[in-house]
Amino acid sequence: MPVVMFKIAALLVSLAVHVSADTPANCTYEDIRGKWIFMIGDRGHDKNLNCSSFDSPVMKLEITLYFPDLAVDQFDNTGFWTLIYNQGFEIVITGRKYFAFSMYKQDGNNITSVCDRTLPGWSHDVFDRNWACFIGQKTEEQRPKQTVFSHKELSPTDKERKLYRHNPEFIYQINQQQKSWQATRYPQFENMRIEDMIKIKGGRKSTIVSIPKPAPVTPEVARMAETLPDNFDWRNYNDINYVSPVRNQGSCGSCYAFASLAMNEARIRVMTNNTLTPVFSPQDIVECSEYSQGCDGGFPYLISGKYAEDFGLVEEECNPYKGIDGKCSTKPSCQRHYSTKYQYVGGFYGACNEELMRVNLVKNGPMAVAFEVYDDFFHYKGGIYIHTGLRDKFNPFEITNHAVLLVGYGVDPNTGQKYWVVKNSWGDSWGESGFFRIRRGTDECSIESIAVQSEPIL
Ligand SMILES: *[C@@H]1O[C@H](CO)[C@@H](O)[C@H](O)[C@H]1NC(C)=O
Ligand SMILES: *[C@@H]1O[C@H](CO)[C@@H](O)[C@H](O)[C@H]1NC(C)=O
Ligand SMILES: *[C@@H]1O[C@H](CO)[C@@H](O)[C@H](O)[C@H]1NC(C)=O
Ligand SMILES: *[C@@H]1O[C@H](CO)[C@@H](O)[C@H](O)[C@H]1NC(C)=O
Repeated sequence: MPVVMFKIAALLVSLAVHVSADTPANCTYEDIRGKWIFMIGDRGHDKNLNCSSFDSPVMKLEITLYFPDLAVDQFDNTGFWTLIYNQGFEIVITGRKYFAFSMYKQDGNNITSVCDRTLPGWSHDVFDRNWACFIGQKTEEQRPKQTVFSHKELSPTDKERKLYRHNPEFIYQINQQQKSWQATRYPQFENMRIEDMIKIKGGRKSTIVSIPKPAPVTPEVARMAETLPDNFDWRNYNDINYVSPVRNQGSCGSCYAFASLAMNEARIRVMTNNTLTPVFSPQDIVECSEYSQGCDGGFPYLISGKYAEDFGLVEEECNPYKGIDGKCSTKPSCQRHYSTKYQYVGGFYGACNEELMRVNLVKNGPMAVAFEVYDDFFHYKGGIYIHTGLRDKFNPFEITNHAVLLVGYGVDPNTGQKYWVVKNSWGDSWGESGFFRIRRGTDECSIESIAVQSEPIL
């Protein structure tokens, strides 16, 4: 293939942003689908390849992405792709994976998503042997639709630097308005600044996006789902608990790391009947993963899936949790635990639904999910959570996306209300001993839109 250098210089000039920091890009399927040119660097590297300042492509590849998950290259080879929330996309084609975050530009508080380009990304064969860097750019004819979003107030406001104070009126209103769940005051939150509370529920930059609705249930999945029990819980399956202990992420936006690792921990327990019970290190993810943004957020697809497949997970002792960003201090000698076959439940982002989640949960074990956190959720004490629509006038938070671990489901014997059972990472004094239940079957707070699964390699 010819050596291609065109446009890459111009591309890199506009890239004067911190590549390793947060990804506030906000790109949809509509923005990403279409024809892309990938400019790819030389191959033959191992996984230590640093792509962050990649500027030396040696070959060009043309890939067209069709909605929802078909990728076709210029030779008509076909493959698969998925959007990853609003952050970027991954393609698997001709035995190679291509993953990159979408580009964004930051100018003070203003952030612009540049959805027709990628930041430098990583390409490697599906066996992780042969790595290269690449940059993607949509072709001219596809490009006119520029998506520009401006964020205001990216740095904390004065109000957000203050300590959080609960609002008794708000808690009273929640408990008055409905009986499905109970709200309470949590003294532990009152030691936190409001900006930290935004972090623990997913992080500022993960504000509302266009989330796909659950996909229709196919007849085949419906048949499988019919055979499942009405109530199921991995904390008590044939009197055995397969879920690792509840942890506390502190005031770091690392929910995605906790949810991801908790899935791998639980699935190893399920696969080995609790013979192996490793607890993995979220600090390793926070400090060392280039597929996420440390205490500023990340996504289970890229951690329990891609990071665990490409780099492996280490156990807690190897890099104990500190809950702050820092230089990667994981001991290189630590044993790494890998996983494989990662995917969004249903195959791609947007293909998920309640029945697929149930089938997958019962068959394979707990899975990482995410949902939109509103003000009222912080106060959850017990019951089946349904968003009340009430806002906290004293502490109005933006809606954010929070990753957690799905461990079971059931039906309330008194009301007939269907629910999910979910493990949170806010300590075991929060909610129902660290867990919560949330309405099932109605995509409550989008919890049925983005389940992720992967398979630990023993
Ligand atoms: C990758 O290279 C950039 C500079 O090109 C550097 O700032 C960064 O620390 C490197 N990352 C790693 C993980 O070595
Ligand atoms: C941010 O955007 C606003 C409104 O579009 C503009 O007035 C302001 O100058 C921008 N700030 C920077 C630092 O570019
Ligand atoms: C992200 O994009 C969606 C869909 O275009 C839009 O509705 C939403 O407001 C955007 N969010 C932000 C924070 O820009
Ligand atoms: C799993 O472990 C339990 C005890 O912890 C034991 O009773 C049970 O027989 C084991 N199941 C299998 C399939 O080995």
